[in-house]
Amino acid sequence: MSLPDPSDLSFRRFRRLRRTEGLRRLVRETRLSADDFIYPLFITYGRGVRRPVPSMPGVDQISVDQLPAEVEDLRRHGIGAVLLFGIPETKDAVASGAYDEHGVVQEAVRAIKAVDRDLVVITDVCNCEYTDHGHCGILIDGEVANDPTLELLARTAVSQAAAGADAVAPSDMMDGRVKVIRRALDEAGFTQTPIISYAAKYASAFYGPFRDAAESTPSFGDRRSHQMDPGNRREALAEIATDIEEGADAIIVKPALPYLDVVAEARVRFDVPVLAYNVSGEYSMLKAAALNGWIDERRAVLEALTAIKRAGAGAIITYHAKEAARWLAEEAGVPSAVRVAEP
Ligand code: PBG
Repeated sequence: MSLPDPSDLSFRRFRRLRRTEGLRRLVRETRLSADDFIYPLFITYGRGVRRPVPSMPGVDQISVDQLPAEVEDLRRHGIGAVLLFGIPETKDAVASGAYDEHGVVQEAVRAIKAVDRDLVVITDVCNCEYTDHGHCGILIDGEVANDPTLELLARTAVSQAAAGADAVAPSDMMDGRVKVIRRALDEAGFTQTPIISYAAKYASAFYGPFRDAAESTPSFGDRRSHQMDPGNRREALAEIATDIEEGADAIIVKPALPYLDVVAEARVRFDVPVLAYNVSGEYSMLKAAALNGWIDERRAVLEALTAIKRAGAGAIITYHAKEAARWLAEEAGVPSAVRVAEP
């Protein structure tokens, strides 16, 4: 093999713009900021509870009375949105806790709004945390029955809106839920409450740690009769189109990292915000590797989140939110002396 002729300098020199951090920063196409993040919170019953989730180091279940401190902490990190999940004290076959006016999530919304009206509160609409069998809806002959479940979802969404939620996020994957929820919200007077639907939600092994955190593992079977098959992309686009037709204001692709092709395609095809859910298993994988000293956590996390944004996500639901926000603030290196003094 002969070396290039040293007098032929016609090749393109990409390295010119990579030479210094200043240049790299100047030409960077994707920038993360705390504004991109939505932080999930697991609200449990009781008082004074802050219980670590073993499979998700750094994530706790917390009781409603812990929320003022939690909100202050999120604000310090510059995070402006949360997604709420509830762990009720009692579960039954018909998920009554999900639409209880005084349910854990409904109380949590009020507690947050009482201390910070501006923090965006999104509530997850599903039944799996509220059923004693751990399935996402009403069981008939051992199967999750679609249409009877819609009524529950609608009631739950309305109760969350009534408590003050800024948006509801149905994650159950029943057919027709966006249509039914939109109608119920409108009839109850919540015409201004957006629906952010988990339109493309896959039946994923990456939800494992979440089911620990939310205590929502199905007691038998799995969720493959309603969540999507990992091999399907065109079907995801059909799901998204259907949710938008039914009234979704924004859509979520979930999980994120193994489905960035779906995020990217959704971003070019649809004119609604596309959110991505960087799920529990994605979080725990990095945490576990980092705790073993096998990976540089800070770089790996920021790289993963940047990739999700680069693919087209307008916002990212992530358990890494606080740490990532802290690292980003450090990187920006804004000296505290620059802060403008109060007049
Ligand atoms: C259902 C729901 C799940 C997640 C969010 N909403 C679990 C499931 O479908 O089994 C998973 C989120 C995560 O893994 O971080 N309520």
